[in-house]
Amino acid sequence: MRQAGRYMSEYRRIREKYGLLEMFKTPEIAAEVTLQPIHAFAVDAAILFADILLPLEAMGLSLEFVEGEGPVLRNPVRSLKEAEALLIPDPEESLGYVLETLRLVRREIDGKVPLIGFAGAPFTLAGYAIEGGGSRSFALTKRVMYEHRETWEVLMQRVTETVTTFLLKQAAAGAQVVQLFDSWVGCLSPSDYGQYVQPYSQMIFNRLAHEGIPAIHFGTGTGDLLPSMSAAGGDVIGADWRIWIDDAWSRAGGDRGIQGNLDPAVLLASWPVVEKKAAEILDRVRGRSGHIFNLGHGILPQTPVDNVKRLADFVHEHTGDSHRNH
Ligand code: CP3
Repeated sequence: MRQAGRYMSEYRRIREKYGLLEMFKTPEIAAEVTLQPIHAFAVDAAILFADILLPLEAMGLSLEFVEGEGPVLRNPVRSLKEAEALLIPDPEESLGYVLETLRLVRREIDGKVPLIGFAGAPFTLAGYAIEGGGSRSFALTKRVMYEHRETWEVLMQRVTETVTTFLLKQAAAGAQVVQLFDSWVGCLSPSDYGQYVQPYSQMIFNRLAHEGIPAIHFGTGTGDLLPSMSAAGGDVIGADWRIWIDDAWSRAGGDRGIQGNLDPAVLLASWPVVEKKAAEILDRVRGRSGHIFNLGHGILPQTPVDNVKRLADFVHEHTGDSHRNH
């Protein structure tokens, strides 16, 4: 959950010199940032440094990361004509920098830890494309979903096709597992998820499973959606902290792995609190195989690095895992 980022001084030193898009698009820089957490902490995997919104740019939307505001897309998709104008990019051409980053990182870390690739899920990407940025209510998105069926279908189909091809290429470039981020899908009712979203996410997971590519399915605020998300697919289902981890696991199904679910804000507290909350999660899964300890969502920029380091070590000690020497 944002392994790299502003909480790390190594990251901030690079970030001072470059724009965010420039960092994503320069494979040497993106590879270096991907590796920073691997050098600093005993984490068990590396996650590609890129962003879920990059494919929207490749589809023809203008993407900017505005300081203090987050991502902005200045030409949002709200009509059928705008949806039909979206391109289905060839990832080698317009997202080649991401594939090159994966190749560089894989060369560096092969044999040490696995490398995770990722993409945004159709709903979360369609949400950004329609709203033109982040949103609290996703009111515009839901309006298109309910009232403009054809626009919704064209947009979701194009995003689905783009993401599917992109993830297959990421696996070919060296990602050993891919994560589909449906970060904002928790704003939907189970009924709407089943009707408007699940079939698209399912197409992506079916294809990945067919190609033998392991996949993680992540969302937040998804308590009551977990059975449907699990039905859509993913070998591992992500859960945020708004649900007990063992409850999330039974909702996702015992045949899946579970990822989660420490509240990232816990890392702002003093170490004894972090330790207690992490132990609580580990005690609830009772060492059962198939649990990936993680934060429930993205790490906060003000997080003390020492807590992250101690947390990674603590999880290994607690689970009796022999962790990497570094
Ligand atoms: O975890 C990692 O180190 C991998 C890199 C990564 C980034 N974005 C880099 C990034 C990953 C996996 C993402 C995914 C992503 N991006 C998601 C899905 C995961 C989630 O958090 O729900 C979403 C919704 C986005 C969209 C996005 N990108 C937003 C809303 C923002 C602004 C966030 C903020 O706190 O300002 C970004 C920018 C972004 N992407 C940053 C990073 C490290 C912040 C970087 C900076 O300003 O220097």
